[in-house]
Amino acid sequence: MTIETDEDLKKLRDIGRIVAVTLQEMMSQTEPGMTTSELDQIGKQLLEYYGAKSAPKVTYGFPGYTCISINEEAAHGIPGTRVIQPGDVVNIDVSAEKDGYYSDTGGSFIVPPSDYLKDKLISSTKLALREACRSAKAGNPINVIGKSIQKVAKQKGFRVIKNLCSHGVGRGLHEEPKEIPGYYEPRDTRRLHSGLVITIEPFLSTKSRFVSESADGWTLVGHKENLSAQFEHTMVITKGAPLLLTVA
Ligand code: CO
Ligand code: CO
Repeated sequence: MTIETDEDLKKLRDIGRIVAVTLQEMMSQTEPGMTTSELDQIGKQLLEYYGAKSAPKVTYGFPGYTCISINEEAAHGIPGTRVIQPGDVVNIDVSAEKDGYYSDTGGSFIVPPSDYLKDKLISSTKLALREACRSAKAGNPINVIGKSIQKVAKQKGFRVIKNLCSHGVGRGLHEEPKEIPGYYEPRDTRRLHSGLVITIEPFLSTKSRFVSESADGWTLVGHKENLSAQFEHTMVITKGAPLLLTVA
């Protein structure tokens, strides 16, 4: 969506803060020995407390409140009986709706103990998000986002998962501009404009450039030894730095 009124911005800030707080709380409460379903229940309770509804559940009938993806799972992991282990690379993605407005955020972290590669994967993906946000200014082509992400991935020795994209958001979970690639696509002539609400969500990985749907019909999985990380913010495009909405 493109913001038109003060009310739009106020409501988007509200749901942005709710998903950010929920993500932060879920990340800080993650412990080895917990199941992903137990972790998802923390998300469910917080979203309910704030009067918000899980966006993947209301939009796609996703069988969970949040997406929790571990190690070889890159995205859309279904919360269930999987037990979180020491050393796991965990991604939590929280998106939700309130009063007809949607926001989407995500983050990755290591359940201790970590190692050099895992720490580097996390810090590089965070950097890719920062750099992509810096480039995302009104008037710029949309492909500056993927260009920035790809540059950081290359510098740091990681790959970009090509079939996981950033996207428009606001009145729905996935809106125009759909499928903003995480790599440079010179044929993409779309441009960013002031007031446009989008997510930026780089996915960096150690091996896989593509992920595919697993037998459960949801979880997107790479090579069995692949590790990936994602960080995601919802933001409003301006002539300067984007206005981040998914902040606690
Ligand atoms: Co998300
Ligand atoms: Co998203």
